Amino acid sequence: MTAPRKIIIDTDPGQDDAVAILLALASPEALEVLGITCVAGNVPLALTAKNARIVCELAGRPEVPVYAGCDAPLARKLVTAEHVHGKTGLDGIDLPEPRMPLQKQHAVDFLIDTLRAEPAGTVTLVPIGPLTNIATAFARAPDIVGRVAGIVLMGGAYFEVGNITPAAEFNIHVDPEAAQAVFAAGVPLTVMPLDVTHKALTTRPRVEAFRALPGRVGPAVAAWTDFFERFDKEKYGSDGAPLHDPCTIAWLLRPDLFTGRRINVEIETEGRFTLGMTVADWWRVSGRPENAFFVGDIDAEGFYALLTERLARL
Ligand code: BDR
Ligand code: CA
Repeated sequence: MTAPRKIIIDTDPGQDDAVAILLALASPEALEVLGITCVAGNVPLALTAKNARIVCELAGRPEVPVYAGCDAPLARKLVTAEHVHGKTGLDGIDLPEPRMPLQKQHAVDFLIDTLRAEPAGTVTLVPIGPLTNIATAFARAPDIVGRVAGIVLMGGAYFEVGNITPAAEFNIHVDPEAAQAVFAAGVPLTVMPLDVTHKALTTRPRVEAFRALPGRVGPAVAAWTDFFERFDKEKYGSDGAPLHDPCTIAWLLRPDLFTGRRINVEIETEGRFTLGMTVADWWRVSGRPENAFFVGDIDAEGFYALLTERLARL
């Protein structure tokens, strides 16, 4: 049996972030979560750092260390998404205030120390919010960049273009300078864009399967889904909503559920209307060097089957 892959989840929970954390914690044979680093994004940092702990406690894993990181993007004012996730970021169900402590160390210091302490090439970063913490760690400690095994992030879009603006996806738009630094870092990068997440929508049977699970976790996930679905149904006229962030963890668990291409992806940091756009050279017309595996498709049935089976373990 191979040892579980070590990961750090960098996150701004967010209901879909919460589901990603749950999926990882439910898969200890494959993934060892060394820590959860929080960043400002969907809601301000104080709430994301609190929400991550609520989720760990929901999973029965209060020993997982949770760190607070950057409270604002590198060079811009924070944009949040309460209109999607609600005021708390985890609207949909009332869960108890967390009792587990927030770690005293700053998330960026934890990232740096961990990447220096663990053998090179053994720690995978899973950013599912704006990339501020990761870019800050890389800027402050360039020696860690070459030690990262890989980055599997949720962000960007090509065919779906944008969700927070007509041209840009939320995580990249919030901190485009951070995204630019991470995409240019030379670390093996897997990108899970809206093109994928919009192909794996919640449906009534999928949500009811979560709700029917024994224990507290399945019903909580169904309640979160019920809450944020309303936004996407209204916006896209779809039957359900994408569960963006768990696609990253599913990729680590079951890459066979996904297909994609190795391409060049550049981040727009200057565009008047296109700030934070992922300029993905899907058709390979630019001649620019490949810097990412850009995922394009997902087996949605397989993804929901995996999610339901894993959540049932918690
Ligand atoms: C991304 O933005 C956030 O609102 C979600 O949590 C996800 O990480 C989708 O654009
Ligand atoms: Ca997120």
